[in-house]
Amino acid sequence: MTIRVRVPAKVNLHLGVGPLRTDGYHEVATVFCAVSLYDDIVAESSETLRLTVDGEGAHLPTDQGNLAYRAASLLASETGVKPEVSLHIHKQIPVAAGLAGGSADAAGTLLACNELWKTGLTVDELAGLASTLGSDVAFPLYGGVALGAGRGEILTPVAADVDLRLVLAISHQGLSTPAVYAELDRLRGDAATTESASDPEGIVAALRRGDVGAVAELLCNDMQSASLSLRHTLANVLELGGGASGLVSGSGPTIFFLARSADEEHHLVAALAPHCRRTLVVTAPVPGAQLSYTP
Ligand code: C5P
Repeated sequence: MTIRVRVPAKVNLHLGVGPLRTDGYHEVATVFCAVSLYDDIVAESSETLRLTVDGEGAHLPTDQGNLAYRAASLLASETGVKPEVSLHIHKQIPVAAGLAGGSADAAGTLLACNELWKTGLTVDELAGLASTLGSDVAFPLYGGVALGAGRGEILTPVAADVDLRLVLAISHQGLSTPAVYAELDRLRGDAATTESASDPEGIVAALRRGDVGAVAELLCNDMQSASLSLRHTLANVLELGGGASGLVSGSGPTIFFLARSADEEHHLVAALAPHCRRTLVVTAPVPGAQLSYTP
């Protein structure tokens, strides 16, 4: 049997970063939003656990160094089955881009293996496992828009009444999430363990009432100064948006712009294309990981 799962990338429409905790994580108050940029996972029965990757992640590790591989191992050990699966991931989500591509692959792998092995966990149970793999791994199982608390793994769905069109500016080189958090702490200095996270209440209300203009005004990322500090050229990319609201996605370096009209979207693509690796136009929000079978 072959199981296929399509799993979306995310942006953070709001990323409030609070204090550095004693466990090395930061308390966050974030608004995740799933976007129409996907990785596709194919899972087939096999005598061992095997992983291959093509597309954006062709150079990624295919062993324990890959979060998707660890996801399959974890589900097998938690449910007492043998990790017998051949996984193939076709990646369209750029790597180390602040779009949670690795998290998406791990989430999609949990869903695919749960189906292949008939281990019967609910999505909420899979999300429990996902959050032990990484702070952003549970969200792609649900998709849509959700508030993330704790280190990002405590999710509350947001009934957002919007159809957003975003233009993504993808950089030539990725950024390491831990390095950007460390840079944020360095910039905050003594305040790193006491700083409070920006409050997402305003943008959540705007999303609920479908006020795209207010959503554009209220985009916020407390990590942006750290991403810009590590990658100075990102400030120029943000300026290329002209009047359009732009924000670093997660820890970056991807920058997304909220296009308010087809004209603005075309203008953004034309302005950004010469200054980044590629531009992508996506819609949001979209549903989370989706299963399909081939008997
Ligand atoms: O949870 P995840 O494994 O994706 O996190 C990777 C790294 O990012 C952590 O080891 C930590 O350095 C940083 N991080 C953080 N606070 C969070 C999430 C991640 O400091 N809320």
